[in-house]
Amino acid sequence: MLDINEDTITQAVLASMARCSDERLRTVMTSLVQHLHAFARDVKLTEDEWFHAIRFLTEVGHITDDRRQEFVLLSDTLGLSMLVTTQNHRKPAACTEATVLGPFFVPDAPEYAPGDDIANGALGAPCFVSGSVVGIDGEPVAGAQLDVWQSDEHGFYDVQHAPDAAGRIEPRARGRLRTAADGTFHFRSILAEAYPIPHDGPVGKMLEALGRHPWRPAHLHFWIQADGYEPLITHVFRNGDRYLDSDAVFGVRSSLVVDWKRHEAGVARDGTPMNVPFYTVDYRFVLNPRGDKA
Ligand code: BEZ
Ligand code: FE
Repeated sequence: MLDINEDTITQAVLASMARCSDERLRTVMTSLVQHLHAFARDVKLTEDEWFHAIRFLTEVGHITDDRRQEFVLLSDTLGLSMLVTTQNHRKPAACTEATVLGPFFVPDAPEYAPGDDIANGALGAPCFVSGSVVGIDGEPVAGAQLDVWQSDEHGFYDVQHAPDAAGRIEPRARGRLRTAADGTFHFRSILAEAYPIPHDGPVGKMLEALGRHPWRPAHLHFWIQADGYEPLITHVFRNGDRYLDSDAVFGVRSSLVVDWKRHEAGVARDGTPMNVPFYTVDYRFVLNPRGDKA
């Protein structure tokens, strides 16, 4: 097509994709082009702004590697991750809500037995975590696999610490467990604390320019998988945290906020003698049966 102008450019791009044989790709790209063009028209995007955006995305690419995912952070801080999560996990109100996976999940975490300490040396006040996994009718889910991960008292996940001489990072404050026959689980870890998402890169600069802070309220991550049920990726948030209503990645749901109870030194419920104050938290996860989408 010759002499494409400001008014015909959108249609010209859409027409150029008409022969794409992948129907879903065509649908997604058609909508993306329409929205991008509408956005540029809406804000009357200047060339300077366009160059600035290209430089920004280039920086996002340059800082991203196997250990740092700035594109995910960008998606998280713009609310896109939570939007995608929410619209893909519509389920009955009784089910536990899903929230963002985040960039710090590691597959194949060490396996632990009930009651084990998954902190494995991570720094923080001791915390005993317990709970249960049930189906929507309250039936216990036996043998569910729980992946759990959290940051330490300085707000860092194990994967944010420097690797050892062999290039290895010791897994700390993360692990995999299974529920017992009655659907319950318990393990020891450390107290969850609020932490800032990585903000020393372009996403941090963007947040600052927008007058936003990078903090996430204290939370514990769970990924629960069980036969016959939809997988659940979620967090349990610590009640009273000052960032609950301004999470940098928009992930908080009030149904996921619970009390972490503080106890003076003494004997923990599982009989462990504790010579320092410790915390306990308990949560009941309700899974959605597979094929039962609302
Ligand atoms: C997290 O909770 O681990 C997380 C989620 C989104 C961005 C950064 C961190
Ligand atoms: Fe986190």
